[in-house]
Amino acid sequence: CGIVGYVGSEEASSILLEALRKLEYRGYDSAGIALVDEHKSLQIRKIKGRLSNLELLVQQKPIAGKCGIAHTRWATHGEPSDLNSHPHTDVSQSIAVVHNGIIENHAQLRAWLEKHQVTFASQTDSEVIAHLIDFHYNGDLLLAVTETVKRLEGSYAIAVACSQHPQLLVVARKDSPLVIGRAENFTMLASDVPPLLSHTRGVQYLEDLEVATLTQHEVHIYNLDGDEIEREIQTIDWDMEAAEKCGFEHFMLKEICEQPKALRDTLRARYKDGSLSFPVQIENLLENCKHLLITGCGTAYHAAMVASYVIEQVAGLPVEVLVASELRYRPHIRKEGEVCLLISQSGETADTIASLRLLKELGIPTIALTNVVGCTLSREADWVLYTQAGPEIAVASTKAFTTQLLSLFTIASLIAKQERSGLLEALDQLPGKTQLLIDRQEDIQRFAASQFNKTKVFFMGRLVDFAISLESALKLKEISYTHSEAFAAGELKHGPIALVDTSTLVVALCTQPSLYAKMDSNIKEVKARGATALVITFEDVHTFDDTADAIFRLPQTHPLFSPVLSVIVSQLYAYYCSVLKGNDPDKPRNLAKSVTVE
Ligand code: G6P
Repeated sequence: CGIVGYVGSEEASSILLEALRKLEYRGYDSAGIALVDEHKSLQIRKIKGRLSNLELLVQQKPIAGKCGIAHTRWATHGEPSDLNSHPHTDVSQSIAVVHNGIIENHAQLRAWLEKHQVTFASQTDSEVIAHLIDFHYNGDLLLAVTETVKRLEGSYAIAVACSQHPQLLVVARKDSPLVIGRAENFTMLASDVPPLLSHTRGVQYLEDLEVATLTQHEVHIYNLDGDEIEREIQTIDWDMEAAEKCGFEHFMLKEICEQPKALRDTLRARYKDGSLSFPVQIENLLENCKHLLITGCGTAYHAAMVASYVIEQVAGLPVEVLVASELRYRPHIRKEGEVCLLISQSGETADTIASLRLLKELGIPTIALTNVVGCTLSREADWVLYTQAGPEIAVASTKAFTTQLLSLFTIASLIAKQERSGLLEALDQLPGKTQLLIDRQEDIQRFAASQFNKTKVFFMGRLVDFAISLESALKLKEISYTHSEAFAAGELKHGPIALVDTSTLVVALCTQPSLYAKMDSNIKEVKARGATALVITFEDVHTFDDTADAIFRLPQTHPLFSPVLSVIVSQLYAYYCSVLKGNDPDKPRNLAKSVTVE
């Protein structure tokens, strides 16, 4: 989601709508605006759909005021609808709130507020914030917001307007970005720098667990104990394009680097206080499932493949994996106790939706795993689980894939027959370990610089490493247009080795300890034919020291969870090869982000 706010000497409505436009890349399934005018009247317009719907609504039913907030939504709780759009208000509609983030204890807060006779208008997690502020409000909006945020768990950037204060906004943040724009005649706020750039270049960044008051000429920042904090005004020298990408050269690199956060957000939704947390019906369905079918297309299909190895190994449950474009045309023989999991980032892929409809006709219970709240798949499946990757803009999927993997690992852990605690501990540490890898991206950039001209790149591995080989080859061909293929390493001798020569780079994924020796033999085979070999393995493994031309070492984790780490190396490798070849990695030729036709 994206939030913006303005308090100053001019009419705020057109300034805020224009500012929202610059944030549309953060989400765009609904939008809304709230203004306070000098007569202390709070007016709100909000509507489902793209920002143009809101612009039209404001044209038809204009609003006035020089102080206000606005929001463009990427749904996480509650499908896109007029009612679920922000701003949200208290019951008397005098306090309006826009929120970016996820309130994890919203259900408890909602129950508590309902006990205090509060009626809710929406299904969002955000609405609790408006009611809590009202509960704590006693004429001092800063105090009410401070007391409210002390009760929130999760992530938030919020901006609050109140009819009683026609020249004041209060903001707060934790784990979601918020920037304040400073100028002579107004103060603005936004989730990111782009909406501010056409108005000012002077900004102040709010830090976690801080609140601030914004008036036309002044900004005061406080910690939650009420102590005022000095914050310098910085000058931004980015142009608009760089700003939208938060200073990254491409959305793809930005999204690769966002993975630690996306993974943390996704894990938080399923793992709380040391134990797993699933909707009870999904838990029952999975625990009683005798045969799991998993489907998806492209990258989502590779996530399904990884899951099949992991679930079979830790849960002893038979898993079948089919690409959705095949599943929909195959005769499907229903098995007893069968459940189907459908994976799709967008939830709009035509083949995946067609498979869902077919399985439903056969009476097979279906669970969707998707990143987009309210998408077709989520509406039509019996049950839905969400990844919390946030909007993914680059065509080649990165953070959507690793969050799918993490969600699938939580499912595997849920139905695990073996001791769960080791798995959970490894899951808990995974997001942090991805950060260690991202911090070392220059090593991969350097390796790419020495190899990007290779005309043939083969990825090989066994078990989960084979699934990640497929995903790695897909990534590289998608954005660098290099001929890349993936093989189950044991299949090398049955054909692919005929293609290996001195122009070949072979990337060997070696994260399964029981198969290190086999992989080492495969690497020797390709090296003997003149190939260059890059090995991706764990940091304490030395089996390949004398065989490989280069080794990239992953932080240690449970070997079954290695895909979340190894794939990041491939994502970065593909990204740097693409850039070095002069391509636009965000918009590869001939490909679309979401394929809604067959
Ligand atoms: C397209 C995209 C891929 C994606 C696939 C499935 O081919 O380019 O990145 O993996 O569709 O998309 P979905 O939204 O169903 O995950």
